[in-house]
Amino acid sequence: MHAVRVEGRSLTVALAAAAGAVPARDQALLQELCYGTLRLLPRLEALLAILLSRPLRRADWILNALMAVALYQLVATRIPAHAAVAATVDATRTLGKPRAAGLVNAALRRFLREQDALLARVGSDPADPALFPDWLVGRLKAAWPDHWRRIVAVSNQHPPMALRVNTIRRERAAYAAELTAAGIAARTLPGLPAALLLEQPVPALRLPGFADGLVSVQDASAQLAALLLDPQPGERVLDACAAPGNKTAHLLEHAGGDLKVTAVDVDAERLAPLKENLARLGLSAVVLAADARAASLDWPGAPYDRILLDAPCSATGVVRRHPDIKYLRRDADIATLAATQDAILAALWGLLRPGGRLLYATCSVLPDENRERIAAFLAAHQDAGEVSLSLPTSIADAVPCTPGVQLLPTAGGGDGFYYALLERAR
Ligand SMILES: C[S@@+](CC[C@H](N)C(=O)[O-])C[C@H]1O[C@@H](n2cnc3c(N)ncnc32)[C@H](O)[C@@H]1O
Repeated sequence: MHAVRVEGRSLTVALAAAAGAVPARDQALLQELCYGTLRLLPRLEALLAILLSRPLRRADWILNALMAVALYQLVATRIPAHAAVAATVDATRTLGKPRAAGLVNAALRRFLREQDALLARVGSDPADPALFPDWLVGRLKAAWPDHWRRIVAVSNQHPPMALRVNTIRRERAAYAAELTAAGIAARTLPGLPAALLLEQPVPALRLPGFADGLVSVQDASAQLAALLLDPQPGERVLDACAAPGNKTAHLLEHAGGDLKVTAVDVDAERLAPLKENLARLGLSAVVLAADARAASLDWPGAPYDRILLDAPCSATGVVRRHPDIKYLRRDADIATLAATQDAILAALWGLLRPGGRLLYATCSVLPDENRERIAAFLAAHQDAGEVSLSLPTSIADAVPCTPGVQLLPTAGGGDGFYYALLERAR
């Protein structure tokens, strides 16, 4: 919490660093406390401001994080209050702040005594705009006057867990039967041929055959990428922003493994998990660390029949999976991201063969990164045309959008995503 809020680190990185200090049986609890606290943090901080008669000095700010986690337990979990308070008071010693034990104890006990009144003061609506940064609420209101409240509400809830069966190794029905035998309830999603939606999330390693590459964890909206680009067996495909390789793997699985895929990412470190993913699933691709803004016809396999550009973006469609985005992103980032998206798109276009198709994808809900980028690109490239997309019936939350399709995050359904399919004139 402190690492994200005060030090500006990503939750994924901070959690990976902390995980070693926590026994395996408590890993799920660690995750729940971190993700849950970040989802509700503005409200928990508002409570803290009431409970502490004056703000803590900077040297003690870690106690803000500690008490936010404690309040999350008291407000949103079934952990017995006495256990949460005792563990939090103990933790002041672990953090080398034993003299704060009294203050922490008093603040949490006051919360327990006055909780109804305090919660009434800070609110409990999951769609409360106070749970989002002002700049993002402003952009959501402007872009989605009829939907922004629902986007905020859904983004503050637990995300569902969807699977993608590796259909090269197992038919979906056969894998669904293995899940049932393992006591894991799941249902199919019409129109997504490899997808299964779990009734309750489980750790990936509990999934039958996960280590043997029978299945991957991938959101339902993200599973549209391979279906919409629809690479055909034998084609040359570029996945230009590929790490950690979820969509690379899906492209390959979609074509029965018979594609010549070049998987590129600018971040060489993120290519290690991509290679592990492909190896686990029994798939192969040429992997290249390179900047897609400097895409070159010298890249292996160029020119390509199909290109996937899963562009770097604000990730505002997946806040429920990455609640740290609310604290790490800044308004000014959007213009920088848009410039990067334009530069990558323009550079990749020259690598597409005439008649070839490029799918532009983001997990953003902001038009600046989505339809505005594609509209500007189409206006500037006479040899680019939009291919209309038809979505499976299970994707309920597509909103009207030209060009492309915009999916908003849905409770119990897919993440917020944007897709536009472009074809190069012959
Ligand atoms: C949305 S993520 C890709 C997720 C991936 N497609 C998947 O499904 O697993 C965007 C990726 O773009 C990469 N990236 C950012 N700028 C880039 C650039 N200029 N050239 C190539 N890759 C870039 C990031 O390192 C990041 O891995």
